[in-house]
Amino acid sequence: MSSPSFNTVSLIRKKREKNPLTEDEIHYLIQSYTEGDIPDYQMSAFLMASFLNGLNTEEAAALTDSMLHSGIVVDLSETPGTKVDKHSTGGVGDKLSLILAPIVASCGVPVPMISGRGLGHTGGTLDKLESIPGFSVDMDLDRYKEIINKHNLVLAGQTEEIAPADKLLYALRDVTATVESIPLIAGSIMSKKLAEGIDALVLDVKFGSGAFMKTREEATELAKTLVGIGEQFGKRTIAYLTNMEQPLGNAVGNWLEVKESIDCLHGNGPKDVMEITHLLAGTMIYLGKKADSVEEGIEKSKNSVEDESAFQKWVDIVEEQGGDISVIKDPEKYEPAEFQEEVTSDKEGFITEMDAFAMGMVSVEIGAGRREKEDNVDPKAGFILHKKIGERIEAGETFATIYTNKEETIHAAKAGMVDAISVEKKAPKPLNLITHRVDKNGVHDFRA
Ligand code: URA
Repeated sequence: MSSPSFNTVSLIRKKREKNPLTEDEIHYLIQSYTEGDIPDYQMSAFLMASFLNGLNTEEAAALTDSMLHSGIVVDLSETPGTKVDKHSTGGVGDKLSLILAPIVASCGVPVPMISGRGLGHTGGTLDKLESIPGFSVDMDLDRYKEIINKHNLVLAGQTEEIAPADKLLYALRDVTATVESIPLIAGSIMSKKLAEGIDALVLDVKFGSGAFMKTREEATELAKTLVGIGEQFGKRTIAYLTNMEQPLGNAVGNWLEVKESIDCLHGNGPKDVMEITHLLAGTMIYLGKKADSVEEGIEKSKNSVEDESAFQKWVDIVEEQGGDISVIKDPEKYEPAEFQEEVTSDKEGFITEMDAFAMGMVSVEIGAGRREKEDNVDPKAGFILHKKIGERIEAGETFATIYTNKEETIHAAKAGMVDAISVEKKAPKPLNLITHRVDKNGVHDFRA
């Protein structure tokens, strides 16, 4: 792709003066920056102007397109079927991809899934997959296609060839305080998703203490922008707004979450995890044209858990990608972390809050996550919650068990977990887990 040439300073000024840039102007900026022809200081000024003045839908789509075409766009036209993926904006204990990918694939919809690693308080699907001994997420394009053609599913890591402009821009946003911009986030997410070779996309946009977007209003804006971009690219895109005020499910930490996912695939998953999983999976099955409605998709999703076809798909894909299936079939074989410590409440009453951000940061301290991109994660570290918001607890009763190999972190981690919960005399109102659906027709109240 070659763009006409422009004067970079004039384009920065244009954005600074709140005027929209044309598609060609945005292509020029992104392409020239990726090729090293625009220096970081000019791109930083452009990013800050965009952060402060926003980008309209056309600009956000042009930005996405430029980043998408800075690398390869996988062609899966030889893979039969409507290819559908899911993306979550990230949270604490969010292991849904591990459960819904085999469910949807077992219902006949191809799922090409390229995932990322965890950073800060949020976990990442790749780290979870790699906690399975031997599991490999690194592969070339031929192998990616071979696996999806064989299993209707592939679980891969992002390569250097996917949206390289996003990698450069994200690093620059990180050091110029321009990460938290809805159009910049949306362009970044969608350029990577559109490169996978998908036909349709389901988005789980989270809001609350453990999410990137702290309020539902911000999450709604992000969802609308993501859906708008997806539809502009001709991909059916449906988003749901889901609650991340407390960790999702009971397990947080890489292997611990894989283990919980196995329980889910056997039909023994926590209620919150299964409710969102079946909704997202059902929507994927519908968009993948294997059901005439989301409701029928949800039925198929539930059946695939009941008849164990989803679990069998999970075993097959783990084996195909080099993972040890003996621990998938019998998770008790997996050697746990060296230290396991119970965390008890110092008050009695009802749990009214479980600060997911604070708990996510505890998981980083005990080894389950990373502060910097280069840090290693401990696959065995994490915690299990025995109580959630709304449940009664006695003083001295255990509400969590910490798993770590770093003995020196235990004291602070226990204090951090106790600080992260609020216990009150009065029971709280039940949390609304899924609040809205966002599609090309707008934002709709969701009633489960
Ligand atoms: N996730 C991404 O992939 N990009 C962003 O900009 C933010 C979150």
